[in-house]
Amino acid sequence: LISRAFRHQFIIPDWFGFTKHIEDFYWKCKSNSEGKVASYIPQLARMNPDYWGVSVCTIDGQRFSIGDTSIPFTLQSCSKPLTYAIALDRLGQEVVHQYVGQEPSGRNFNELVLDYNKKPHNPMINAGAILVCSLLKSLIKPEMTLAEKFDFTVNYFKKLAGGENLGFNNAIFLSEREAADRNYALGFYMREHNCYPDKSNLKEILDFYFQCCSMEANCDTMAVVAATLANGGICPITEEKVLKPDSVRDVLSLMHSCGMYDYSGQFAFKVGIPAKSGVSGSLLVVIPNVMGICTWSPPLDPLGNSCRGVQFCQELVSEFNFHRY
Ligand code: DON
Repeated sequence: LISRAFRHQFIIPDWFGFTKHIEDFYWKCKSNSEGKVASYIPQLARMNPDYWGVSVCTIDGQRFSIGDTSIPFTLQSCSKPLTYAIALDRLGQEVVHQYVGQEPSGRNFNELVLDYNKKPHNPMINAGAILVCSLLKSLIKPEMTLAEKFDFTVNYFKKLAGGENLGFNNAIFLSEREAADRNYALGFYMREHNCYPDKSNLKEILDFYFQCCSMEANCDTMAVVAATLANGGICPITEEKVLKPDSVRDVLSLMHSCGMYDYSGQFAFKVGIPAKSGVSGSLLVVIPNVMGICTWSPPLDPLGNSCRGVQFCQELVSEFNFHRY
């Protein structure tokens, strides 16, 4: 038992048969062959649709993983709650929400729409995340170069991940930038409506957004990130206080209402846990005060969420009472 504890493995292997249940859900979802791998850039289109991994990290640092949990994938939209968290932590809720709203958009994640105040609807969709990148760029240590701001952001992500592997996929970054007509359109549309604190550096803002999407980690690492959010901003592996509890509360509120694109309402209703999906097939799931989970499987449903990831969450709450209500 003690040696398991030192290795951060589950020390109560039969905690309500928990890890056994996770294994059962894993195998059930593995046979799900629905969905299509994202194909807007070749690097994602080449992903093997059979990849499937699930990692768990509890708020006291116990770990469990099954499947393809050590293969890196790009964070894509799973970076959105993290950049939003940094903005909240450094600038406070009042400043951040002068620029971005809190409402689900009811539209696709990259749709060319702003809310009735001419702000992006929320930080979990592309327009909102691009705007949050502009806040990080222009309002937090504005004297930093883009290179320094990249390091600053990677360091934050690493702290959230307890110092575990976090990389950057340059081929994906370059491809994202090449295939980014919609994101450029969103960028210019927001500039037209004076959405940014400083409109002079749109190209840098978009590059920074593509860089955040192109950061790379595996399921094990992202489960630690989710666990830091589950633990009120204190990383369960390092015990470092990375984010203020108020920032974490705001991030989880918007993950709950807006984290699953245009499926967010149904997911909040059926699963009732804050989550955020990304186009590489990753899904960050936060069970506040209990654990963080990351699932990864590239095939996506028509709304952009990982098919196996969504099924896994449904299996989880059908067995355990994790639904918030
Ligand atoms: O901005 C984009 O189009 C992507 N790089 C990230 C978006 C994303 O993950 C949407 N996911 N379903």
